Amino acid sequence: MPIIAPSLLSANFLNLEADCKMLNESEADWYHLDVMDGRFVPNISFGPMLVSFFRKATTKVCDVHLMIEEPGKFAEQFKNAGADVLSVHIEACPHLHRNIQQIKSMGMKAGVAVNPHTPVETLQDVLADIDLVCMMSVNPGFGGQKFIHHTLKKIKTLRQMIDEKGLKVLIEIDGGVTLENAGTIVAAGADVLVAGNTVFSAQDPKATIAQLKKL
Ligand code: DX5
Ligand code: ZN
Repeated sequence: MPIIAPSLLSANFLNLEADCKMLNESEADWYHLDVMDGRFVPNISFGPMLVSFFRKATTKVCDVHLMIEEPGKFAEQFKNAGADVLSVHIEACPHLHRNIQQIKSMGMKAGVAVNPHTPVETLQDVLADIDLVCMMSVNPGFGGQKFIHHTLKKIKTLRQMIDEKGLKVLIEIDGGVTLENAGTIVAAGADVLVAGNTVFSAQDPKATIAQLKKL
């Protein structure tokens, strides 16, 4: 069964309490929290302050996806805000290994996010040090985009790399996940499904989460 991580980027920010209550009552496993700086990606979302509110609103895992430059400067703030998993983009980290060590030393799970154009082979030499790969299946910056089909090939390659090394790294797929394509994504080897638009624009978000969970 996949881990379901709804992205709060698509929540109703005028009534976050209601959306948190819905998620807490649902079969969702994680809160996926998208942090954007307007530099690494062409959009600005929210920072540690909002993460700390989500932390208070749930006992579920807070999975923080940093789409920011120089993430090392902010790791401590996100730790203090209550992040359980902290993912940084490989494209934003010339010293990725150091970033991973920093995150682990703070007691968080370390994730590395890869953009659609980044080959998964570039993860070869850090795979043993991380807990999760956040594989972007859209270009990061916005919710509600279309799934890039080529990602399926990348999931299979990464699955093989992880299994060959006997590792337990989770493969998280982020962007354009729908009820229609989620089965294929899980069959390709994904462990975690992020879903923003699919969950929050649904007539019945809880039922939609339950359907994703059944895959
Ligand atoms: C994109 C974010 C995603 C996004 C997913 O930059 O990292 O987490 O919110 O949203 P959907 O599921 O709507 O594509
Ligand atoms: Zn994300």
